Amino acid sequence: MKPKEYKENLKVLLSEEMLQRRIQELGAKITQDYKGKKLVIVCILKGAFMFCADLIRHIDLPLSCDFFGVASYGDSTKSSGILQTTLDVSSSLEGKDVLIVEDVVDTGLTIEYLQRYFSSKNPKSIKLCSLLLKPKSLKQKIQVDYCGFEIGDEFVVGYGMDAAQHYRNLKYLAVLT
Ligand code: IMP
Ligand code: MG
Repeated sequence: MKPKEYKENLKVLLSEEMLQRRIQELGAKITQDYKGKKLVIVCILKGAFMFCADLIRHIDLPLSCDFFGVASYGDSTKSSGILQTTLDVSSSLEGKDVLIVEDVVDTGLTIEYLQRYFSSKNPKSIKLCSLLLKPKSLKQKIQVDYCGFEIGDEFVVGYGMDAAQHYRNLKYLAVLT
């Protein structure tokens, strides 16, 4: 999918202010919950990079960061159902309190796979923080421990999220019209 005129076909869903206010709240809650723990943030690339960068600035605790890349969409707006790992974590997660930071839980397929994969690395705990959850699209039961916003089953772009690699640089979240 190629954008027509840049930004011409976008409708703002969550403004920069709304996103930042909620991310501040999530960071404060995570700070409370992870005091005294060995927190490792695992940012799921590419979509969560911007959310993760803002979120960790609101977590007032010692922590380390790792990155895991997974792709399932290709250039389409429907999940292909086939997951491709594009980058593995580089640190040991054994005995650590892992917090997966994801952009959006849609069908739940990706996160189910990630939780199974990270569990095999023997962490002390695994929790999930997702900026967005699409409850109507879920195909399996997924527990989102820290959820930014619940949205409808529309395809969204911006704030790290893309359509065919475009729009990741928007400061807000938009629906393609
Ligand atoms: P799931 O496996 O169907 O839950 O899809 C999760 C992944 O698909 C997320 O990590 C996103 O990267 C991507 N995704 C799902 N919905 C959207 C969307 O509306 N916009 C952009 N990416 C999305
Ligand atoms: Mg993602």
